[in-house]
Amino acid sequence: MGRQTGSATGKRKRSSKKDNGGADRPAKTGPKEKSILPQKRHYRQRAHANPFSDHNLTYPASPAHIDWSTHYPAFAGTGKTPEFADVGCGFGGLLIELSRQFPETLMLGMEIRVQVSQYVQDRIAALRTTHSLQPPPTDSLPPSDASPSTSPTPGPYQNISIVRANAMKFFPNYFPRASLTSLFFLFPDPHFKVRKHKARIISPTLLAEYAYALKIGGIIYTITDVEDLAEWMRVQLEGCVLFERVEEEELRKDEAKGKILDAVIGGTEEGKKVERNGGKKWLACFRRVEVARLAS
Ligand SMILES: C[S@@+](CC[C@H](N)C(=O)[O-])C[C@H]1O[C@@H](n2cnc3c(N)ncnc32)[C@H](O)[C@@H]1O
Repeated sequence: MGRQTGSATGKRKRSSKKDNGGADRPAKTGPKEKSILPQKRHYRQRAHANPFSDHNLTYPASPAHIDWSTHYPAFAGTGKTPEFADVGCGFGGLLIELSRQFPETLMLGMEIRVQVSQYVQDRIAALRTTHSLQPPPTDSLPPSDASPSTSPTPGPYQNISIVRANAMKFFPNYFPRASLTSLFFLFPDPHFKVRKHKARIISPTLLAEYAYALKIGGIIYTITDVEDLAEWMRVQLEGCVLFERVEEEELRKDEAKGKILDAVIGGTEEGKKVERNGGKKWLACFRRVEVARLAS
């Protein structure tokens, strides 16, 4: 079983649905930023969306049909595509937390709920505006597997974006083969009832899609406060030959991955809520491995 943090014990149901994990409380913001950051109360939304419903969404026919310059205008012409994908990104805490740590890495959140995805879109736009003239922090890092960049890094938050999308149905429409280095499933909806397990975002079929999009050596990060779901994800991932378990201690030997882990554990709205409520977290990470093809 993965790392456990926090003080509460045993299986638990999710706590108050009205607590949005601090999405209304942007940390370390000045008065100007506060005045234009969107307020969660203006984006009312049901707590859950049914991933099997027809959400009347439009999708790109394939990743090649996406014009990434509309998402990341400051990177237009660089040929870059997203390397980090946050599936079920909720209110966008991970993207915002990692954006300034990896200013040259494009990151994309996928979120099925319309109002929540709109909130994140507005939040990113507001952050881009308010930070447009500020330099990145001195501790920012290039992607761990990238060569040093020769061009100046665009301003803060230019490297994050979101799509309203049902990842269970259309994940491959967004990400080409071996394009991702990090894939996040942070506090995914637990779908407690057995008859609802098919709605869980980690399953053998979906793992094949995730493996296709990940580079060899890329990492899937999972974390949950629901013990039963942690066990479910572990069983699915350990049962897939395309992934191997990698311990937190090993990942932390790489400074960049250490920063990612800190954000995974404590940077999202849901993770902060679990901490406030004294809950436990189960972290488990898996590396995409190469599998030799059998000669026919
Ligand atoms: C419990 S929240 C966690 C949000 C965020 N990862 C965090 O840690 O704060 C799970 C999110 O996944 C979204 N979600 C559920 N199923 C999804 C799907 N099939 N595609 C995209 N997003 C989905 C939900 O709408 C919800 O916002």
